[in-house]
Amino acid sequence: MSLLSHRILMVTGKGGVGKTVVSAALGLAAAESGKKVLIAETSGAQRIPELFGVTSSGYTATALTPNLSTLSITPLEAIEDYVIQQIRVRRLFNLVFRNRIIGPFIDAVPGLHDTVQLGKVFDLTREKSWGRPTWDLVIVDAPATGHGLTMLNSAKTMMDLTRTGPMYEQVRLVHEMLSDPKETGLVLVSLPEIMPVSETIDLWERLGEAREQVRRVVLNCVYPAPFTQPGCWSVAQEALSGRSEGLDEGLALTERWMGRLEQQAEARQRLSSSLPMSAFELPRIFGPPPGPEQLRALGAMLLGGDQ
Ligand SMILES: Nc1ncnc2c1ncn2[C@@H]1O[C@H](COP(=O)(O)OP(=O)(O)OP(=O)(O)O)[C@@H](O)[C@H]1O
Ligand SMILES: [Mg+2]
Repeated sequence: MSLLSHRILMVTGKGGVGKTVVSAALGLAAAESGKKVLIAETSGAQRIPELFGVTSSGYTATALTPNLSTLSITPLEAIEDYVIQQIRVRRLFNLVFRNRIIGPFIDAVPGLHDTVQLGKVFDLTREKSWGRPTWDLVIVDAPATGHGLTMLNSAKTMMDLTRTGPMYEQVRLVHEMLSDPKETGLVLVSLPEIMPVSETIDLWERLGEAREQVRRVVLNCVYPAPFTQPGCWSVAQEALSGRSEGLDEGLALTERWMGRLEQQAEARQRLSSSLPMSAFELPRIFGPPPGPEQLRALGAMLLGGDQ
């Protein structure tokens, strides 16, 4: 089954590993293959429009390219959306949910914030324009691991909490869609360093049955090797050291780089020996933060011939 044939792709991983960059790269690749794609940022994040040099319209979809849009989901707006769909009276919503005494109690319901955000994602997959789905694919830039896993399980948590009734039925539909490997694919992002890789292995173990939904493991920010032949570095080091201050500085810098590559090789090895699937590697891009051109190149690498 191809990566882009899912209705939802959830991108998750430890904080700062490149989830947003990977979501944007996948979004561009999917949009350029002809799909109508929406990238949904969660918990009010608005980083995607920045990457495309566009101003965010928050909870309303913002166009990034002809086939690609983004929006930022906040729990409160998602709750408002849901409640107003049910009661159809905004004044009543304001009275109850924006009430400073009742509000905190509602906030404390376990998993509610996550479930309503996923409920919004579910609604987005059902949205229609001119009789056909508005979005062929919704990419969810999910919260960092731990919280990402909680979010993924939140619909189930809410089902256990509600047990019966209309809300139970609705979260059951959300849970069914999110746990169906044909509908929802997971993309786990990591860095070629020991800690992030350990966390990815841990996440993999905790995913349980949802492991079969993992469609990509991404090792982001992989440093290129400065020498193509083994042994070149020690030859260069020997031949060039002690000749000039400038050269010595360059050698010291290269030495640090080589140290990083060793760490990277160890992390890569640990990941590949712990997971039954190989990782897709994305290069570290130097210079200013990756923009549309680089994201396009990263997106092509993530598809890896799979259209
Ligand atoms: N392949 C790459 N090459 C160079 N820089 C990168 C690459 N991937 C990500 N970055 C940079 O690393 C930083 C973190 O990336 P990003 O914001 O995508 O991570 P994140 O996992 O979404 O973070 P958070 O958990 O804070 O949401 C950003 O400044 C981004 O521009
Ligand atoms: Mg992010």
